[in-house]
Amino acid sequence: DRNIKIAPSILAADFANFGAECQAIEAQGADWVHVDVMDGHFVPNISFGPATCAAIRPHIKTVMDVHLMISPVDPYIEAFAQAGADFITAHIEATPHTHRTLQAIRGSGAKAGVALNPGTPADAIEHLLDLTDLVCVMTVNPGFGGQKFIDMTSKIRRLRDMIGDRPIHIEIDGGVDPKTAPLVAQAGADVLVAGSAAFRGGSVSNPAPYGENIRQI
Ligand code: DX5
Ligand code: ZN
Repeated sequence: DRNIKIAPSILAADFANFGAECQAIEAQGADWVHVDVMDGHFVPNISFGPATCAAIRPHIKTVMDVHLMISPVDPYIEAFAQAGADFITAHIEATPHTHRTLQAIRGSGAKAGVALNPGTPADAIEHLLDLTDLVCVMTVNPGFGGQKFIDMTSKIRRLRDMIGDRPIHIEIDGGVDPKTAPLVAQAGADVLVAGSAAFRGGSVSNPAPYGENIRQI
């Protein structure tokens, strides 16, 4: 279904070749590029920060979708906006005054996303929807690529109902592959993040598998 956007996560790319990896995945059909920022505090892993986002920005023509797995969030919003993020998504579990965070993201010029861990109910964001451009439903506990998919289809359906006709994306992140993608798409998701399933089997010198992978998701 081509109304579904595929957002490969460069967490699964070769970190020593980020620029070329971004160009390759986009040339192979990525709709957005998903950038996973981890701080070793909110999640038990460290990835990269705003300077890396700024460095890859010129290599991405499409949407740069920045997923912040950091706490606190607010002190870093401006830096990620300056780095060229189109979407900045913060975890509701990582930022207690979520209204303020979402307002600050929009104030920075970026679109505002809010992410929900698997244990967080859809209702947690009911009162945030007017400040939200994207809801990211985690289908793994964040921190690592390549984890097993956790079924969140009832949460996705509930969010679809809550959102109604507002122009808000529902993004799924974690364990998306050709098996799980149809489940979440059918439940109402329209942006699918894929790390390992998108980058599997390819490289900058052999990028064709990326395209094959994206088409199969
Ligand atoms: C998880 C990240 C995801 C992850 C996706 O903490 O937010 O974006 O890298 O990777 P896969 O698709 O391999 O689960
Ligand atoms: Zn992510």
